Amino acid sequence: MASVMSLRDLENQIVYQTKVTRETFEFQDFQLTLEVRSLESLDDTIDRVFEYLQENGNESELERLCPYFGVVWPAARALADALFEEASRREATKLSGLKILEIGCGLALPSLVAAKLGAQILATDYHPMVPRFLNANLELNQISTIEYLELDWGSESDETQKKLESITGTDWDLIIGSDILYERFHASQLFSLFEKILTQTKRSNLIWITDPARPYLQAFIDHLKASSISVKTDIRTTFEWIHGQKKAKDIFILKL
Ligand SMILES: C[S@@+](CC[C@H](N)C(=O)[O-])C[C@H]1O[C@@H](n2cnc3c(N)ncnc32)[C@H](O)[C@@H]1O
Repeated sequence: MASVMSLRDLENQIVYQTKVTRETFEFQDFQLTLEVRSLESLDDTIDRVFEYLQENGNESELERLCPYFGVVWPAARALADALFEEASRREATKLSGLKILEIGCGLALPSLVAAKLGAQILATDYHPMVPRFLNANLELNQISTIEYLELDWGSESDETQKKLESITGTDWDLIIGSDILYERFHASQLFSLFEKILTQTKRSNLIWITDPARPYLQAFIDHLKASSISVKTDIRTTFEWIHGQKKAKDIFILKL
């Protein structure tokens, strides 16, 4: 009979082959390079996860356990870049002392950059392998100012509701998320989370979301338009690797 997969099942049965690459950020005279441990190949890992779930009659778990967390998506690079630029403009203070929440962090590249620039971070995601990769990347880059909380933004369980209450009740300086609007239901789930947060504050530009123009970005924007939440939209050009070649990629950045 199919059962809910545990982290131990996944770790014991599926090999997450990894690699370490470098990400460099530059703005005027400032430069920062980070090392990032990521999946060697997203496609191969998806195949292995799916094969394993199929053999065990757990195909329905694929959505939850799909290893999308394990690569640096261009939207993460664009968000990290925007944070780096913001910090560089502040010169000496950088992001010193800012309290930042990251939603659906995956490898948490924007959080890694913000932490290097002085911010205190709470990174969140729901995939069970995320803390393992995060710890590896904290160690690689000698960062100690990122905490992790397992948080499923779409869950209605009592436990999640408690976590969400604590998050919506916290006075964040910035809330960030990259490439988190890739399923139809993400648009309404994230809109209602952000609406809850924004009704408790008069601040604008509190929430920064980046997206590579996935189909559900428009649904999210439609929710915003139907509400009183104001949004500033811009485009940042970053890059992505396609078959070993570096290609320019435009990414939307929304500031709510
Ligand atoms: C496309 S990946 C982007 C990862 C990272 N933000 C980046 O841009 O590199 C989407 C991330 O959202 C996470 N995610 C999806 N649904 C979620 C949910 N309901 N609650 C929390 N995280 C979720 C996934 O585990 C994954 O890490």
